[in-house]
Amino acid sequence: MLIVFEGADGSGKTTQSKLLYKYLKHKGLKVILTKEPTKGPIGRLIRKNFLYSKFNNVYVDAFLFAADTYSHIESVIKPSLAKDVIVISDRYFYSNLAYQGAEGLSLDYLVKLHENTLKPDVVFLLDCDVDTCMKRLKKVRRSKYETRDFLSKVRNSYLMLKDKLDDKIILLNSSECINDINNRIIMEVEKLL
Ligand code: TYD
Repeated sequence: MLIVFEGADGSGKTTQSKLLYKYLKHKGLKVILTKEPTKGPIGRLIRKNFLYSKFNNVYVDAFLFAADTYSHIESVIKPSLAKDVIVISDRYFYSNLAYQGAEGLSLDYLVKLHENTLKPDVVFLLDCDVDTCMKRLKKVRRSKYETRDFLSKVRNSYLMLKDKLDDKIILLNSSECINDINNRIIMEVEKLL
């Protein structure tokens, strides 16, 4: 099973993906928690050279993040699924649709770029107002995407893609209490197990 967490920076997806990981592990299931940008060579390249630079070219961003997703699938996701390990990913290609969509590329174009990816069983889309997201982002060094205006575009593009895609995307209001959201996520995952 492939479970994905998505949402704008500061939406709480890292907290929720960790809580779900702990829950499944505690149940004695085989599970891994992974993320994008990955810790592999392309993910490292993205973090080192592009996330904090002033260099802006949406095609470079889209292709690099897409390449990171495809290599993530080959090196981590597929081998784990083949061993019946549940894979939880903190971000997946939906981040590319939302962020590079917010940078100006069309959803159709971005969907095409990811047409050979693996469809997840479920996507939890954590959504909350941008001011709450900004408050949660206490980092000293912010990536080029972590501005109020940009995150507001990202939020809109996530909501748009949820409406337009047929994928199983569950929208959760992440300004609610952490435990309530966690319980809702567990309920949905239990249905799939
Ligand atoms: P983030 O999850 O915030 O990483 P960190 O672990 O450092 O907190 O992801 C880094 C940024 O990359 C985030 O602002 C979203 C952006 N991003 C894209 O623009 N496109 C993508 O396809 C992915 C996976 C991430």
